[in-house]
Amino acid sequence: MLNKIDALLSEIKGLKASSSAEAEELRIKYLSKKGIISSLFDEFKTVPPTEKKAVGQALNQLKNEAQQIIQRLKEQHEQSDTSHRKTDLTRPGASFPLGGRHPLSVVKNQIVDIFARLGFTVAEGPEIEDDWHVFSALNFPPEHPARDMQDTFFIHKDPDILLRTHTSSVQVRVMEKEQPPIRAIFPGRVFRNEAISARAHCIFHQVEGLYIEENVSFADLRQTLLYFAKEMFGKETQIRLRPSYFPFTEPSAEMDISCTLCGGEGCTMCKYTGWVEILGCGMVDPNVLESCNIDSKKYTGFAFGMGIERITVLKYQIKDIRLFFENDIRFLEQFKSAL
Ligand code: DAH
Repeated sequence: MLNKIDALLSEIKGLKASSSAEAEELRIKYLSKKGIISSLFDEFKTVPPTEKKAVGQALNQLKNEAQQIIQRLKEQHEQSDTSHRKTDLTRPGASFPLGGRHPLSVVKNQIVDIFARLGFTVAEGPEIEDDWHVFSALNFPPEHPARDMQDTFFIHKDPDILLRTHTSSVQVRVMEKEQPPIRAIFPGRVFRNEAISARAHCIFHQVEGLYIEENVSFADLRQTLLYFAKEMFGKETQIRLRPSYFPFTEPSAEMDISCTLCGGEGCTMCKYTGWVEILGCGMVDPNVLESCNIDSKKYTGFAFGMGIERITVLKYQIKDIRLFFENDIRFLEQFKSAL
């Protein structure tokens, strides 16, 4: 049997193939289940025990060599033989899934664009702030109950370092650095110690606006916000200003827009009032100007602040603000075409 194996080995060493199909035929002839080498393994069972070791080794060697040789013959042809190329160059390319902007970024960009048309620039401030910029400079005295409305997460006590509860802190940062005229908006993330629900979250986003100059009036505030509302929600949109209170503005107001769903007729979204609240605003309190070293006798100004989630919910009729933070592709994909 050893002779047979030897003869077969030299036969296989001399094999040639002119195509990969021919190489495949050789594989079948020698290496398939019914091939010559397999039949030798059957024969091996009849070899006397004393010869088993030598024959077994020779047989395994034959099989390994045959596999290598025939594989090499195949590869030679596969490289040159285009009909057997593994990559099909005529196939259409693999599509590259394109991402989209998050709806809050879409709306933030729209807000920035609208105010940019009125000459407002963009500035940003830190999310981790001190008490001065979030509260004290904005005319919230230490024991004032207005602080309770904006409970937050404290990083350090005495001196107080905390996560800002509103972007109004950026007003202070900008006024401390620059003298009027100041005309800017400040988008950013804010934090409050609130239970998470369909309508409230401990993280959300705001855009703050500030305009300080000589002779800025409440009429300028109203007209600026009317322009914004019409650009954002459509030309037919109406606004209404209701008196309100914020420590850093005097007078202060809350602004409603005519309901984006029913147009003012009354529906569940506006609770049958025809109006929905979208922002707080007012004339910057002289105390705030003085805290930031701006002469309140010479300059006046207005400020406003709105929640980006709120604007997005109204614009796209989203029922639950938690959707903004869950990263569910099925939700986010719906905003791909909104630019
Ligand atoms: N900072 C206020 C809040 O988070 C919103 C606000 C109200 C901002 C009136 C303003 C403003 O600039 O003038 O509730």
